[in-house]
Amino acid sequence: MVLGALGTACGGPTAPFPGYAPDVVVSPQRATLVPGETIRLTAVGPTRSISWNSLNRGVATVDSFGTVRAVALGVALIVAAGGDSGNLADTATVAVDPALRSLASARHFLVGAAMDMNAYRSDPLYRQKLAAEYNSVTPEAAMKFGRIHPGPTQYTFTDADSLVSLALANGMAIHGHTLVWGEVLPEWVTTGTFTKAQLLQVLKDHITTVVGRYRGKIASWDVVNEVVDGSAAPLRNTIWLQKIGPEYIDSAFVWANRADPGAKLFLNENRAEGVNPKSNALLTLVQGLRSRGIHIDGVGLQAHFILTPPPPTASDLQANLARFANAGFDVRVSEMDVRLADAADAAALDQQATVYRDMLDACLRVAPHCVAFTTWGFTDRHSWIPTYFPGFGRALPFDASYQPKPAYKALLARLQQP
Ligand code: G3I
Repeated sequence: MVLGALGTACGGPTAPFPGYAPDVVVSPQRATLVPGETIRLTAVGPTRSISWNSLNRGVATVDSFGTVRAVALGVALIVAAGGDSGNLADTATVAVDPALRSLASARHFLVGAAMDMNAYRSDPLYRQKLAAEYNSVTPEAAMKFGRIHPGPTQYTFTDADSLVSLALANGMAIHGHTLVWGEVLPEWVTTGTFTKAQLLQVLKDHITTVVGRYRGKIASWDVVNEVVDGSAAPLRNTIWLQKIGPEYIDSAFVWANRADPGAKLFLNENRAEGVNPKSNALLTLVQGLRSRGIHIDGVGLQAHFILTPPPPTASDLQANLARFANAGFDVRVSEMDVRLADAADAAALDQQATVYRDMLDACLRVAPHCVAFTTWGFTDRHSWIPTYFPGFGRALPFDASYQPKPAYKALLARLQQP
């Protein structure tokens, strides 16, 4: 009788189980999986049982059909018994490699990626890798106002629902992005002739409907996105500011909290990763919300970086994250990528890895106040960057063939440290 395995596996010569005449042969002898991956063992002939024994912290489940699902890193042993004698006949080991998510979960931390629904639909490997490596996901586009609420009374939840289903089926936390932003707005909002009261009502309906639909399922939200101006003006000039005034921010947080009191609420901002005038303004803004009794859990620091000019130094990142944490705010690294020219050499890839490592390090140093580290995509195969920055398509931890880059290895190594 032969057991064959479908899936990620590297075979080896079949060796008899010591002391027994093999009437069951497990093939391949060894498979390497990452948590979340499965292999299916198919028996030729009657198999009495297939069981799983953990060696060295490996955790997996095996069902009666021989489907092995790897759960946590380590090495484990598959034991097949069968045939007339019922002898234990042969074994195979399955080594479960560490993945970002297993290391992160072990320290009660979220490591996430933005999810592109076009890639989700067109590329099965994309969702498999995403679920294997990450324990958190953020919709890159599916929940933006213009996508999810294209007409005054029309909502399109298809993509958002698919993302939520995939995440929940794979034990991933969901971070909603984003309820209020000055961009990706539908024409009915941008060209509508609303009074202040009417636009407030539009915003309230939007937040109540979207947050309410996923109440209890979406763990946290970017309630407001990119609102600090960073220059002389305190707030970015958007339709919300023009037609409502700065109080739209307070209102958005109040409505989000009412729609799901259990969800963590964040204000997500760009170019505020180091200590600078923009992060100063961000801190003042969120402290102001708190002082008015508004529920806000923390800030998202996007971390869209490039090598030249250089990103904030490691100590600058640490100082900034520490001051938000010390002020009582959670921090999420919410959208990290490090743009790199397509022609980048090995030295540039190493530099990129250092930037990723420094940002994760700054985050982990203020744990548990830094709750998540999310990259904006995860593979160069599906990335927003080349559309916006042609020739800079190598920003993410996995290359276009899903091979880990030095950046991935640096993140993995940092998660393995205390
Ligand atoms: O899906 C359509 C496709 O059907 C159509 O054929 C094509 C034609 O241009 O457009 C596609 O939509 C594009 C969409 O990304 C795909 O998801 C839009 O044109 C494009 O503008 C859109 O860009 C996104 C951008 O936000 C605006 O929504 C990027 O992918 C996304 O990465 C980017 O994300 C933002 C965060 O939300 C906020 N922080 C900055 C970050 C990067 O800019």
